[in-house]
Amino acid sequence: MKKLLTLLLALALTLSMCSAALAADVGIVLPTRDEPRWLQDQARFESVIADTDYTVEVLFSQGSSATELTNVETLIAQGMKVLIICAQDAAAAGIAVENARAEGVTVISYDRLITDTEAVDYYVTFDSVAVGEAMGQYLIDNAEGTGNSLYLYAGAQTDNNAFLFFEGAWNVLQPKIADGTFVIRNSSEAIAVQDKPELTREEQAAIIGQITTDWDFNVAKSKAESHLTAATADEKGLCYILAPNDGTARSIADVFAADADVSGYYVTGQDAEVASVQYVIDGLQSMTVFKDTRTLAQDAMDMAIAVLEGSDVVTDATYNNGAIDVPSKQSPVVVVTQDNVKEALIDSGYYEASQFTGLE
Ligand code: BGC
Repeated sequence: MKKLLTLLLALALTLSMCSAALAADVGIVLPTRDEPRWLQDQARFESVIADTDYTVEVLFSQGSSATELTNVETLIAQGMKVLIICAQDAAAAGIAVENARAEGVTVISYDRLITDTEAVDYYVTFDSVAVGEAMGQYLIDNAEGTGNSLYLYAGAQTDNNAFLFFEGAWNVLQPKIADGTFVIRNSSEAIAVQDKPELTREEQAAIIGQITTDWDFNVAKSKAESHLTAATADEKGLCYILAPNDGTARSIADVFAADADVSGYYVTGQDAEVASVQYVIDGLQSMTVFKDTRTLAQDAMDMAIAVLEGSDVVTDATYNNGAIDVPSKQSPVVVVTQDNVKEALIDSGYYEASQFTGLE
């Protein structure tokens, strides 16, 4: 027993020495290792970090707001001065960033805006409304005549981006629903407001509540299956599918492809994940919206370094997070289809041609 206690004590001492030895000027907290999107960001951060003299640590929250809070506390204990955080849950992250702020840390919301708190100094993002508009426009550009079946899917309700993507898609799709080009097949909440060009947050929330994938492939798959089970053969045929990102697009596409009454489909996506780029090359996913994570990681680190060095922080937009207008830096996005996949993703150096098969 005594031996065990001594051993435990020695272990505790070693652990506390380790954490005291760890230091991070900049702490980075990302949502999960389980989605390729965030591994892209991690890789980009690592290459940007290699060029700085500051110490940086990247931690993952693995889909849990509790782990996210612990991660932020760990980084505070390591003396972080700037926190770059992509929140698991926009509202739940408030407490974590308020704790960081109380310790004098500058908070940069990364990709997803943390809502309903004043403790966000800056926001680095892609133009998420433009992402949704690009998806909607792609479906419109490929539709002919009237009565085309439209299936809508959205991201997680806890992610502010899910609202921005949907808002963008609705901006362009709504007039084409109103004029009969498209007929919504899977959302009574969307049908109820289909004559309204602009939706309130509550109306968006009601629709997203119905068509959410939770950013989860399995949820996306089972929703798509039950939508197709409920639809008649007439409501299938050539289908137009608004899928909110690549992971969900692939699983929704697989479900539509397997239905004998679906004669063809157009499906959107975003993130240019390797598996989806292959799907685009193979004609299984129609498009993806490429968000160059090299730019986002660089912008976030540039901002962090400006804060550490006391120089001017460059911003070009503001986003209201429900509590304040957050000064923001916004990056453009690129639509990728079979036609420009090589130019946008290989020639730009983002991926290697050897990662894919069938590239022309
Ligand atoms: C990001 C997307 C990502 C999704 C799921 C969103 O906040 O902007 O790029 O696909 O979360 O992780």
